[in-house]
Amino acid sequence: SAAEKGGYDYFMLKEIAEQPKAVADTLLGRIDASGVLSLDEVRIPPEVLREVDKVVIVACGTAYHAGLIAKYAIEHWTRIPCETELASEFRYRDPIMDRRTLVIAVSQSGETMDTLMALRHAREQGAKVLAICNTNGSTIPRESDAVLYTHAGPEVAVASTKAFLTQLVACYLVALYLGQVRGTKWGDEIRAVVKELAAIGTQVEQVLSTMEPVRELARGLADQNTVLFLGRHVGYPVALEGALKLKELAYMHAEGFAAGELKHGPIALIEDGLPVVVVVPSPRGRSVLHDKIVSNIQEIRARGARTIVIAEEGDEAVVPYADHLVRIPRTPVLLQPLVSTVPLQVFACELATARGNEVDQPRNLAKSVTVE
Ligand code: G6P
Repeated sequence: SAAEKGGYDYFMLKEIAEQPKAVADTLLGRIDASGVLSLDEVRIPPEVLREVDKVVIVACGTAYHAGLIAKYAIEHWTRIPCETELASEFRYRDPIMDRRTLVIAVSQSGETMDTLMALRHAREQGAKVLAICNTNGSTIPRESDAVLYTHAGPEVAVASTKAFLTQLVACYLVALYLGQVRGTKWGDEIRAVVKELAAIGTQVEQVLSTMEPVRELARGLADQNTVLFLGRHVGYPVALEGALKLKELAYMHAEGFAAGELKHGPIALIEDGLPVVVVVPSPRGRSVLHDKIVSNIQEIRARGARTIVIAEEGDEAVVPYADHLVRIPRTPVLLQPLVSTVPLQVFACELATARGNEVDQPRNLAKSVTVE
């Protein structure tokens, strides 16, 4: 009903708008005033976490993209090798695990069969399993050793939005907590990031308040057949997520690529007028990547691409090559997906609407897939 949708036309619009609160709720009580993380509720003793020598993340769909981003954060802040794998592939390749492996199963519903089967397999091999889940008492947390709940609230639209942002927050919390418990050399950086993470809801809010030009752009692209997405580092999974949203909602051919791979194939797809969304890493910090992606934007534009550039405030280098420029606030490098994903959600939702599609209930898809 209209009341359930809180005045929005679709649940998806409501859920996109709820993201600042979802993010804040997921942080609530987990960072104290002095910036120390407490995840006691997870109930994996620090001794056990100090012994972990490998992290494996398993998930499906949008949750898998959160897991891909988590890999960058976990390896950087903890120096523990981490791999992220599609749950449906994981157990069929006889993966290597033992009691020092921490498996993280990410799932909004807690009922996805592929993810459940992956975690069962992991526990049989003696690995410890931590669930990151949005649904209290669902099967995946019940069958895990521990759980960190995301507090997105019920997500109704099939395409995941607020659950994704809270999965990211939970992944960052786990990564930072592992770093804190293990006392890595990134202590100072970890403390600084924890502070910025605590305030990230405001930045998501800021992005949401500037989305009208993105909606207008989306409406103008309703007749296109293909949209490509490019990113690198944590922007690469964001590109994959942007493409997935467009497939799910707009039924368009959409692909996400690592910008460094352009020259190895995808650049052949560029033709006159093709819309290409580029997620640009911060020019601060890992600025080498920034410069490389600016060259990529130049290359594709020279071949006719219509460039839609998502870049941090103050990044002036991209301006000459952006047909459309979407500004996002400055964040620590690893946290950027919390703000860069939001315009891609809005973009896909508006394109789907412009194409006359059913936004909350896309064809052929289910909110929770409880078969293998
Ligand atoms: C389905 C949904 C996706 C979701 C995926 C994983 O395919 O349509 O939106 O990302 O399942 O769901 P989960 O509940 O495990 O996060």
